[in-house]
Amino acid sequence: MFNGKSNQAMVNTMELLLSALRAAAEVTRLRILGLLGHGELTVSELVSILDQSQPRVSRHLRLMVEAGLLARFREGTWVFYRLADHGLQRQLINDLLPHIESDSGDLARDLERLKLLRAERATLAAEYFQENAEQWNEVRSLYVPELEVEKALIELAGEQRNGNLLDVGTGTGRILEVFSESISAGVGVDLSRDMLSVARNELDAKSIENCEVRLGDMYNLPVERGSKDLVIFHQVLHFADDPLMAIKEAEKSLRAGGALLIADFAPHQHEFLRDEHAHRRLGFSDEEVTSWAHGSALSYAENLTFKGDKLDVKVWRLEKGRES
Ligand SMILES: C[S@@+](CC[C@H](N)C(=O)[O-])C[C@H]1O[C@@H](n2cnc3c(N)ncnc32)[C@H](O)[C@@H]1O
Repeated sequence: MFNGKSNQAMVNTMELLLSALRAAAEVTRLRILGLLGHGELTVSELVSILDQSQPRVSRHLRLMVEAGLLARFREGTWVFYRLADHGLQRQLINDLLPHIESDSGDLARDLERLKLLRAERATLAAEYFQENAEQWNEVRSLYVPELEVEKALIELAGEQRNGNLLDVGTGTGRILEVFSESISAGVGVDLSRDMLSVARNELDAKSIENCEVRLGDMYNLPVERGSKDLVIFHQVLHFADDPLMAIKEAEKSLRAGGALLIADFAPHQHEFLRDEHAHRRLGFSDEEVTSWAHGSALSYAENLTFKGDKLDVKVWRLEKGRES
């Protein structure tokens, strides 16, 4: 019944499956899969959560990368790992994750440690924004051609620029201000009370009455589902532990036919942004943004690039289908 070609395909599938199963079949490696189910992590984060030596953890990671269960990428001095996002290996991971998640022993402890680690990092970032809230409007323009990027955001917003806007990680509310004349209403959400208090003052001082700001987390947005025409992440996702999860959450707040704009850095090597400005990621590639679109039921529409002195900024437009 099988011709030579399909026999070959079956052998390859069996090999892939066997190698993925072998790579997953070990307790630390299952724990790693469970942890990465909550977003990408660096080797040193995994080492500290698993409380095992770096060579040991690296060996487990290498095996899983070879079997196609994990993807590895280097960014500056940090090496990140994330779960495979497609193929047979991804299907296998999807089948395994609910079982791994139900473990109340090792993985439950690992997830507690992950929560602590992220809380520590969030505290550092919050301190940074607390210190910089007052001067943020100067800091934000230090390394990027701001006005050009703002113009591009308006252009790429298309017809959605006239609707309801959600600005995620609004900071001092600059994006609300930029869109306030065209939108019907705008909401800015931010985790930093200090940034929000500057934003409220700015909106008041400029008599912008169709916009408000709210305290909230990009992973759990305090807005009604399906209520927004336009969602913007302007220079926010490079702080995120799990950008895809933030995009998925934002997608829920969009109406069918809505658009999501991301303005962030193109891939770069400026490690000082981690050390001095609390960045986690050193920019994003088109491929990564495309993979977020695939992972969140959005489609990738277009992008623009702006050359800066040190850094390039990109604006990407993703769209939610009119039928959804
Ligand atoms: C670099 S500022 C950009 C602010 C604004 N979008 C702008 O372009 O001026 C990043 C903002 O993201 C906020 N932020 C970071 N993590 C967040 C989270 N998990 N949820 C909501 N806001 C967050 C920070 O508090 C900060 O105000």
